[in-house]
Amino acid sequence: MADMTEVLGLAADEMTDVLTAATLAPSVHNTQPWRFRLAPDRIELHPDPTRRLPATDPEDRELRLSCGAALLNLRLALLDRGIRPLVTLMPGADAPGALATVRRGGHRDLDEETRQLIKAIPARRSNRKPFRDVPVPVEHRHALVRAAERERSWLHIVTDRGERARLQGFVAKAQRIQADAPQVRAELTGWTGPRTGDGIPPKSAGIQPAPQDEWAMRDFHAAERPPGKDYESDPLIVVLCSFYDGPLAELQAGQALQRVLLTATTLGLSASFMSQAIEVRPVRDELRRALGGTLEPQTVLRIGYGSPVPASPRRAARDLLLEPIRTT
Ligand SMILES: Cc1cc2nc3c(=O)[nH]c(=O)nc-3n(C[C@H](O)[C@H](O)[C@H](O)COP(=O)(O)O)c2cc1C
Repeated sequence: MADMTEVLGLAADEMTDVLTAATLAPSVHNTQPWRFRLAPDRIELHPDPTRRLPATDPEDRELRLSCGAALLNLRLALLDRGIRPLVTLMPGADAPGALATVRRGGHRDLDEETRQLIKAIPARRSNRKPFRDVPVPVEHRHALVRAAERERSWLHIVTDRGERARLQGFVAKAQRIQADAPQVRAELTGWTGPRTGDGIPPKSAGIQPAPQDEWAMRDFHAAERPPGKDYESDPLIVVLCSFYDGPLAELQAGQALQRVLLTATTLGLSASFMSQAIEVRPVRDELRRALGGTLEPQTVLRIGYGSPVPASPRRAARDLLLEPIRTT
């Protein structure tokens, strides 16, 4: 295992804090599919191929979204230490295998918005429990849309009743297809339940899905639902989209996803994901056409006012280091 070292002028313990902030990002099934290679002049973000979900995410699209989310946290953690991060996505021969490199681009003072986002990193969590029946104000919706735009992505807010019903149909259809796919079920079961440092523990599982639910939530084997405990009737539903297809756009969308989620946290909002309709390729294609055919849907979020939920586990930053780059 590699040691934490001095990077971008930060001491090893500061580097541990920066990488720990990165690990607090959301990831599909809490697989945390990221690793880091350190050099004095750069941090490389790499995918962790041992944490792929070949049945659920055969093209590694969600793996890259997750790594993009970790990258946004990394950028914010560096800004918190006065470092302006200079990011190269898909750096190619410069850092073989890396999804991104981050170098020092000089100094940058923190603005208030960035300060709030940094504070939100440890507070954000996926909230699969029912929300209160309180609508999200228009100005908060605008703030979420702007957050996605800042990261060169698009947040589509589903307001039209017909469109909402169509999306519910897509999610339900994809959920049924995945329920009939033994390998997808096995991946879900494998990452659900008590594990050490990753996966979805019972305390984070939300409530057990029920036939009357408007939105088909993923079944993370939650404890039985208490009588009368149902989901809110009208959550804010958004589809996070990229402007084009492919790894680079997915890394951008992952950063946008995290900026949206952190912005939501600063506004007192909770969110959970409904990714099924995008994971199942033919349903994703239908959704893409329903959105007008020019945007690439990357994930679906349910947003509202939730009660507090516990944090889910993370692996330690020191366990995520690849052998350092030797500079001779
Ligand atoms: C790309 C992506 C897809 C996800 N899809 C789902 C989903 O369909 N259903 C769900 O309940 N959570 C989903 N999640 C949330 C993860 O399970 C969650 O981030 C992870 O368990 C860590 O928990 P935390 O977000 O509370 O830190 C997704 C997360 C990412 C990044």
